[in-house]
Amino acid sequence: MCGIVGYIGRHQAAPIILEGLERLEYRGYDSAGMAVFNGEKIQITKSIGRLKVLEELTHGGSTMQGVVGIGHTRWATHGVPSNENAHPHFNAEETITVVHNGIIENYLPLKEKMISKGYTFVSDTDTEVLAHLIDYYYKGNPLEAITKVMHRVQGSYALGILFADHPDEIFAVRKDSPLIVGQNEDGCFIASDVPAILKYTRKVYFIENQEVVRLRADHMHFYTVDEEEITKEAVTIDWDADAAEKGGYEHFMLKEMYEQPKTVTDTLMPRIKDNDIVIEELGMTDEEIQAIRKIHIVACGSAYHTGVTAKYIIEGIARIPVEVDVASEFRYRNPILEQGDMIVVISQSGETADTLAALRGTQKMGHKVLGIVNVVGSSIAREADNVMYTWAGPEIAVATTKAYSAQLIALYLLAMKFGKARGTLQAPAFCNMLEDLKRLPAQIEMLLSNKNRIQRFANRYIGAKDVFFIGRGIDYAISLEGSLKLKEISYIHSEAYAAGELKHGTISLIEQGTLVAAVATQDALFQKTLSNMVEVKARGAFVLAVTNEGNTEIEKAADYVIYIPRTNPYFTNSLAIIPLQLFGYYVAVGKGCDVDKPRNLAKSVTVE
Ligand code: AGP
Repeated sequence: MCGIVGYIGRHQAAPIILEGLERLEYRGYDSAGMAVFNGEKIQITKSIGRLKVLEELTHGGSTMQGVVGIGHTRWATHGVPSNENAHPHFNAEETITVVHNGIIENYLPLKEKMISKGYTFVSDTDTEVLAHLIDYYYKGNPLEAITKVMHRVQGSYALGILFADHPDEIFAVRKDSPLIVGQNEDGCFIASDVPAILKYTRKVYFIENQEVVRLRADHMHFYTVDEEEITKEAVTIDWDADAAEKGGYEHFMLKEMYEQPKTVTDTLMPRIKDNDIVIEELGMTDEEIQAIRKIHIVACGSAYHTGVTAKYIIEGIARIPVEVDVASEFRYRNPILEQGDMIVVISQSGETADTLAALRGTQKMGHKVLGIVNVVGSSIAREADNVMYTWAGPEIAVATTKAYSAQLIALYLLAMKFGKARGTLQAPAFCNMLEDLKRLPAQIEMLLSNKNRIQRFANRYIGAKDVFFIGRGIDYAISLEGSLKLKEISYIHSEAYAAGELKHGTISLIEQGTLVAAVATQDALFQKTLSNMVEVKARGAFVLAVTNEGNTEIEKAADYVIYIPRTNPYFTNSLAIIPLQLFGYYVAVGKGCDVDKPRNLAKSVTVE
């Protein structure tokens, strides 16, 4: 998730752009850059690291004179943070420049096609393809060139574009990635999000998919992808700056929960091509996949919980033995690793000390490591032998939600690819599972729409002292995450238990009114879990059940039921975790806790 800002008007553009980019820093950044038309040509300045570096480099923008400009803070998805990969990107003649937020899914074939036509590339980004493609179609009419590119590019994009021979205009385009434009008496603005221009105007236009905007100093024109001019209604923003950074949500955690349909889509769709799973970054042939003897998954916290989920899924689909460890244990237990063992580390931040140490330790033992990481260019991403990114964008809230959901998608894809390569997953089932995966974003969206019902239920438990989560198989893994979400932000004691294990001690803690959340999405284990629900109910528990639509039999044992849409049993974590995330969130909000920054916790645990 990058940040885009552009300005055209009476004032110097660079200072306005820098200030706007600062307001978008929550969108993540590892590099930044600006392009300003200085009266003769387009001047570009780029920098790595925090936006402050660019600010200092340009002396607050004063080294870039001009009243037309675009700027960008990058959150890397393709290509590590570097000057070459920072935006804006130029065409070869430096007469067209682009800033981009999103993912161009078909950038590789487009890049190959441009290279075959004699174009040379200076970066590893997907975005640079756009600069050359616009150049390829440009015959003097920017709108015509832009719309031709829009017909050929797949993926998500919000673009700001400058043409050196049209110095009195900025062009902006949107498909899936957010983009707004605004105007005041001093000029016109483009931005990825409201905070960037709230200081200049509260009247904004939200650009819809496949729309193009032509901005001049004193007016804007809107077009469709077919170059038809359209009119749009402005919206008046009444948020304050802080609320605007959260997109109008009260907390980043809630905003990020609501981004989960998009992060699932962004992590999933670029890896499904012609009804097959393509994970270029895996770096393994089918023969190498067939030779895997055992998989060791190592992670911490919520990332560890996705690893527990993956054990059930990979063993179930690909019949490969899987061992899952918390990194702080793995790194010191002198693990037994043999020829043919595959090591997978999972980390949102890519900086977790224990996970990084586990990675280094296994590499010292001569084993290659696959990293499933969200932050491009992070330590784990740089040191792993291969990296499969979860394109969830920057996650601000300490309690992970969207990155967790993206990690699950990455693990589903691995399990299915392994199963197909090893012949344990046949075509019909494979295709049905692909269809189930594609339905997850909409199903997550539907579950998120139930937030009011969850909030009302959560309000009953603001004063709770102990809450238990139980489940079997994948439902046990879901329980682990549901319990962590609750306790880490509401400070209420909670435990997750394998439902069948409860009677071996912990059930003695169940008292009258104790809340037990029973996760029962695995139909093959449904009756067993139902029995466990009866057991705890008999001892006074209040039973919250999370189960698949249609399992109404559960109502004889549960006091409160949340139904999730049906999907493949291997994928139910992606759905069942949504009401549990909302439950933990609303209990914490009800208690007045600092949801985004819970006490004693850090977003990235870079110490042992
Ligand atoms: C999850 O909500 C917590 N913030 C924490 O458990 C986290 O998952 C853990 O620290 C691992 O972090 P990582 O994914 O960045 O390695």
